[in-house]
Amino acid sequence: MNLLEVENLCIWDAGTNETIVHNSSFHVKQGSCLAIVGESGSGKSVTCRSLMRLNKAWIRQSGDIRFKGEDVNLLSAKEMRKKRGKELCMIMQNGMRAFDPSCVVGVHCKETLGAHFDWSKSEMEAKMKRAMESVMLKDPISLLNKYPHQMSGGMLQRMMIALALVFTPDLIIADEPTTALDTISQYEVIEQLLLLRENMGTSMIFISHDLGVVRKIADDVLVMKDGEIIERGPINMVFTEAQHEYTQYLVSTRRALSHHFKKLIGEEL
Ligand SMILES: Nc1ncnc2c1ncn2[C@@H]1O[C@H](COP(=O)(O)OP(=O)(O)O)[C@@H](O)[C@H]1O
Ligand SMILES: [Mg+2]
Repeated sequence: MNLLEVENLCIWDAGTNETIVHNSSFHVKQGSCLAIVGESGSGKSVTCRSLMRLNKAWIRQSGDIRFKGEDVNLLSAKEMRKKRGKELCMIMQNGMRAFDPSCVVGVHCKETLGAHFDWSKSEMEAKMKRAMESVMLKDPISLLNKYPHQMSGGMLQRMMIALALVFTPDLIIADEPTTALDTISQYEVIEQLLLLRENMGTSMIFISHDLGVVRKIADDVLVMKDGEIIERGPINMVFTEAQHEYTQYLVSTRRALSHHFKKLIGEEL
């Protein structure tokens, strides 16, 4: 069964009349992870935000976006707000921007959860605490009393994943969730996302320009270039039988990098 079905999605800038995404069609199977890869500016983030209807007002979209059989484009703003968080959750690239800088993260989390659930303060705290521990955030209570600027990028990404765990949404959209992190935090955040998929069977759209990471986490992949999907298929197929020159280029650069890295760490090739 498909959790999400997107057909003929077009996205354009109403200010300049410029097309950003051309006639895009894809789907996410229940419980699976779809990766979207492509160079910067190819339309990955705009596509994801269109699914949540979170693009700026001048960015318009047409086409069918069916989520659990319901057309997202036809929902009222209020109905859409109800779906965000609880059914569709986005983990963004920059944790610092995702949290309200003017309050401690605990208050932000309580407000976000409070908009969707009738839990008491202590219930909410208990759920957050458990979720934070499961993403290896130590001493959750003291962390909940910190401002975003008092936490590292990796901690904030894990906070976002913890929040997603509490929501247990049907679909998580992770837009380059590790790009802003150092290598060790990147590894840890990916491990947490993998666990989340394993334990809860959450469906996911995972955006990255790192094909190595994508290979670890995704079942299927879409390759985007200049607002178009130029290649798609199961992850292994794209690695072994890429048809498009651009995908072949992505795969070969990835190989060269990993070759270089293995040499650096002295591993046998
Ligand atoms: N807020 C915006 N206003 C106008 N154009 C935008 C906006 N955000 C994105 N775009 C346009 O959409 C294109 C794709 O952007 P984006 O989806 O962010 O790329 P990616 O995530 O693949 O790096 C950009 O090249 C830009 O032209
Ligand atoms: Mg982006």
